[in-house]
Amino acid sequence: SNIDYASYLKGWIRAVPNWPHDGVMFRDITPLLQNPKTFRMLIDIFVHRYMDQKIDLVAGLDARGFIIGSVLAYELNVGFIPIRKKGKLPFTTVAEEYELEYGNATVEMHTDACKPGDRVLLIDDLVATGGTMMAGYHLLQKLGAEVVEAAAIIELPELGGAKLVRDDGLSLFTVCS
Ligand code: PRP
Ligand code: ADE
Repeated sequence: SNIDYASYLKGWIRAVPNWPHDGVMFRDITPLLQNPKTFRMLIDIFVHRYMDQKIDLVAGLDARGFIIGSVLAYELNVGFIPIRKKGKLPFTTVAEEYELEYGNATVEMHTDACKPGDRVLLIDDLVATGGTMMAGYHLLQKLGAEVVEAAAIIELPELGGAKLVRDDGLSLFTVCS
């Protein structure tokens, strides 16, 4: 079941204390991505969850959301939208400022990335305070998209972000918690 996969996959996420600064326990997904078996297990969980949900587009959050989001979009045979950190996208954009566990930032999305009513899946690697996921959600809402769900590999319940996202009415699926 997904529960068994979840605890197995969690074992492939490395905890690095005090990075990028003191007091932060950084969850590093690179071991999970590096192993072809765990990478495939992870993507397959998302594919099975979303293959029959009439997803039109996958939107991935810069930068770790791109790694899983683009593979998932390809597998679902839908297009991919990059939600990028400020100043990277060349065309007209919508922008949203937010706070995350270890700082603040602005994300942007092209104004023609999706159209009203498009069924979009929003994806990132991890939900800590939830600031990043909520910023992506707000950008998609600005363009009138229907955000079917937000998805991530892991949520950090002790930071309260996953609860915040769900309390805001956005369905959130995480493989590990
Ligand atoms: C990390 C992570 C999420 C976000 C989660 O990204 O990949 O996007 O922080 O934190 P939050 O829930 O507190 O908002 P980061 O901004 O470090 O960028 P990166 O993907 O480029 O490393
Ligand atoms: N983004 C925000 N907090 C994080 C953490 N603890 N580990 C990895 N990425 C993060």
